[in-house]
Amino acid sequence: MSILVVVGAQWGDEGKGKIVHFLARKAQYVARYQGGNNAGHTVVVGKKRYALHLIPSGILLKQTKNVIGSGVVLSPSAFREEVLGLEKQGISSRKRLFVSLGAHVILPYHILLDGLREDSGRGIGTTKRGIGPCYEDKVARIGIRVCDYLEPEIFKKLVAQNLKIRSAELARLKPLSSIEKEVFSDYASLRNFIKPYAKDTSLLLSQAIERKENVLLESAQGAMLDLDFGTYPFVTSSSPIAGGAATGSGISPSAIEFVLGVSKAYTTRVGLGPFPSEMESKRGDYLREKGHEYGTTTGRPRRIGSLDLVQLRHAIRISGINALAVTKLDTLSGTGPIEVCVAYKWKGKTISDFPWSRKIQQEARPVVIRLPGFSGDLGSARHFSDLPKAAQNYILWIEKKLKISIPTVSVGPDLRQTILRDSSLDALSSFV
Ligand code: IMP
Repeated sequence: MSILVVVGAQWGDEGKGKIVHFLARKAQYVARYQGGNNAGHTVVVGKKRYALHLIPSGILLKQTKNVIGSGVVLSPSAFREEVLGLEKQGISSRKRLFVSLGAHVILPYHILLDGLREDSGRGIGTTKRGIGPCYEDKVARIGIRVCDYLEPEIFKKLVAQNLKIRSAELARLKPLSSIEKEVFSDYASLRNFIKPYAKDTSLLLSQAIERKENVLLESAQGAMLDLDFGTYPFVTSSSPIAGGAATGSGISPSAIEFVLGVSKAYTTRVGLGPFPSEMESKRGDYLREKGHEYGTTTGRPRRIGSLDLVQLRHAIRISGINALAVTKLDTLSGTGPIEVCVAYKWKGKTISDFPWSRKIQQEARPVVIRLPGFSGDLGSARHFSDLPKAAQNYILWIEKKLKISIPTVSVGPDLRQTILRDSSLDALSSFV
């Protein structure tokens, strides 16, 4: 039995979906613990591609049960769309997908508010999916949970109350009556759709733990988008770090045995905000095209940077990451010497711990070193020794600099393109 958390160690889009799918083959449960349909990943299984936003990638494995935890914000319509889309591809979610009764629901007015704030001149480059405003309601204690959504009388009352509270902002966009109409236009059908999936998922997971089953907890986004420890305010509104796994799933923090971080072999971010190791050169443009670095949810081009050891050390510390999975090593092949950011410089000072100050985060320049590059087709490598020597050395160098082991290296989107180096790590070994 093992309880494993998989976290993004950068700004999201690290390739967690593939790593989770790889490890989920030995898991009885996979649970998402935060975020909503702002996330997105594509999992390739043979010739099929699956785009997932809300549902854990364990859904692609017949034997795995999946949970959308109470820390997630759930758009009923996006949920239905994703479940039906999977059904069309031959994947059934019935009796193997469970939604927490405590997850908060995203309603049309949350999406309107997200757009309004983004367009107000104070935007941070959100996905405009209503994520932030839904979490705002949760914290303001006016949110609507799945259990409230399932009770028409309560739901009606809460919607009326919330539209009143948000009326000053919302009325700038549309008459409140038309927003209310939108909320209720498909309500009965969505409510009936969600009902069979809604459960006390904290209880389900605890029972699985008691039965000594393998449980994999999956984050969306990444450490640097964490509400508390990311590049605030350019962050998402939840806690992707490992601490969020307990509060967002309802399992005890003491049950968690292993935290696996996922990092690309370089760095990307979408949206606005500080990005100290960002490349503003043609090299960045080249990597974007080679690595298909466009957002799965919004299609936005991702910003590209070199691997950033300052940022990664921060992520490792905050989440207590025990080991790292490095993805997209193949993208660096044939791109010349590998650039790595080993520290920041600000006003002549060298900075080696991620700074809190927004000014320093924004103005710090990367101290970049160059390591020997490599070339050739890495996608066909199945063992670490199949990789070019310089690619092996790059991984070994990262291990040494970050004082962390890298048991898994990914060299392409297919599950077979996952190199396992060291499956002897105790908790991880239950999953490989
Ligand atoms: P929100 O989560 O839509 O509120 O957006 C807040 C910030 O998080 C923005 O910079 C988004 O681009 C970023 N973000 C949200 N979800 C993801 C993701 O899955 N990958 C990468 N960035 C994300």
